[in-house]
Amino acid sequence: MTAGSPPALPARWDPLVRRFLDDPAALEPVVRRFGTPVHLVFPEVFVGNLHRLRSVLDSTPAGYRICYAHKVNRSRALVRTAAAQGIAVDVASPEELESARAAGFADSSIEVTGPKGETFLRALAGTGVTVNVDNQWELETLARLADPAAPVPVLLRVSGFAGSQPSRFGIPVPAVDRALEILAGHRDRLTFHGLGFHLDTADIAERVRAVDTCLVLLEQACARDLMPSVLDIGGGLRQVFTDDAARFDDYVHRLRESLTGRGHRMAWGTGTFGYQVDAAGVRGTPVFHKYANTVAAADMLAEILASPLEGQGGRSVARVAADNLFDIWLEPGKALADHAGITVAGVEFVKEAADGSLLAHLDLGRDTVTPADQEVMVDPLLLPGPQPAPAGDPTGVFLAGRLCLERDLVTTRTVWLPWLPRPGDLVVFPNTAGYNMDLSAASAAMHRTPEKVAIDFRDGAFRATPDADYRPPALSAGLSEVS
Ligand SMILES: Cc1ncc(COP(=O)(O)O)c(C=O)c1O
Repeated sequence: MTAGSPPALPARWDPLVRRFLDDPAALEPVVRRFGTPVHLVFPEVFVGNLHRLRSVLDSTPAGYRICYAHKVNRSRALVRTAAAQGIAVDVASPEELESARAAGFADSSIEVTGPKGETFLRALAGTGVTVNVDNQWELETLARLADPAAPVPVLLRVSGFAGSQPSRFGIPVPAVDRALEILAGHRDRLTFHGLGFHLDTADIAERVRAVDTCLVLLEQACARDLMPSVLDIGGGLRQVFTDDAARFDDYVHRLRESLTGRGHRMAWGTGTFGYQVDAAGVRGTPVFHKYANTVAAADMLAEILASPLEGQGGRSVARVAADNLFDIWLEPGKALADHAGITVAGVEFVKEAADGSLLAHLDLGRDTVTPADQEVMVDPLLLPGPQPAPAGDPTGVFLAGRLCLERDLVTTRTVWLPWLPRPGDLVVFPNTAGYNMDLSAASAAMHRTPEKVAIDFRDGAFRATPDADYRPPALSAGLSEVS
């Protein structure tokens, strides 16, 4: 990086995805066939992510179960891939349950998390699906609905750990004893398997403290003869978006400078990315903090499992689980989807705003590639459309969305692209499979929902299959989807 070069946020690209994008014979026919905008998912990248988590877990003494958190992406290709890989699944709605079953998951490999109403609980009772109970009402309702002929497997979700933010989910630590009492009173209908938590933070120490607390609560369960066998540590393993931590830090430094009026102008209008800007300077936590992470999910998992537990004489999380014959369950969503998807947009036109800013209009909206409150803090790739790439200097633009809303800017930061985009050029957003593809509210203007297409590499070539039709190799070799 040179002092005069424009600020840049180089994205990490998975090698397979990069190879696909670099191969003109691969991307061009997909765009011709499916048009833009289009979401592309890469099941093989998902499998690679899974293998890395598995190899960490295999190296510990504890038994384990990986439940793919379906909510991260509606993709049929990804949920079928998870089923074909023989893992379990975590679903959070009747529709996800149906999707998981259709993908081939047996009910015994399905766990339901999140708050559930009575209709959903009624549908779950008697199926053998594990219910990760969110609250006491759910537990009591389930006890009422359950049939002793088919007791419901149950986990309790615990929350409110010392030093953690209060959560709207789960049973507060002091209320767990009452829940255990209810379980002990209905052991003919509810089969208690164990405790779990899901923390909305990447902090490892916080997770380890939660494990310590859960172990104390599991002892209370044992004292009631409830015989737990599961410790569920939830999801929250992180994604790695950036390929260059130093450049990311430099970018953020220059962004903060720009907010005080120094250097390149980098923010649209009066936006501050969540920072507080005043006479004292630029303070606070920006809305894009997740993009700064450089610790891979597998490394984070390894660190959690190897962490010593204060309440257990310093033995590691994995050791204590193994010694007590507890299986460790985890519910990774974004860690499995990391780099398993990209989104391709088309450039419609470029215009200049009253303040001289250049706006490159895309054929998608902001919330097609990111939750609206998050700024995309990795640079998209600009690819030439029908015309070859021109020689040019990096040009700073804001990427504008297609909705008739002032706020529909895909980036509210200046993005420097290698040339001034032209109508028909393509803008590729990296790493969008983790929650970014399906949170869209952009149907407001009756735009069609972008198509999802699975890309895989078979017999020496990339193959594109509509997401709904994709079958992982093991399934397409003979098994048909369960209907
Ligand atoms: C209970 C539960 N488990 C797992 C997940 C998946 O989390 P992540 O995508 O961070 O791995 C979530 C996400 O909201 C969740 O609520």
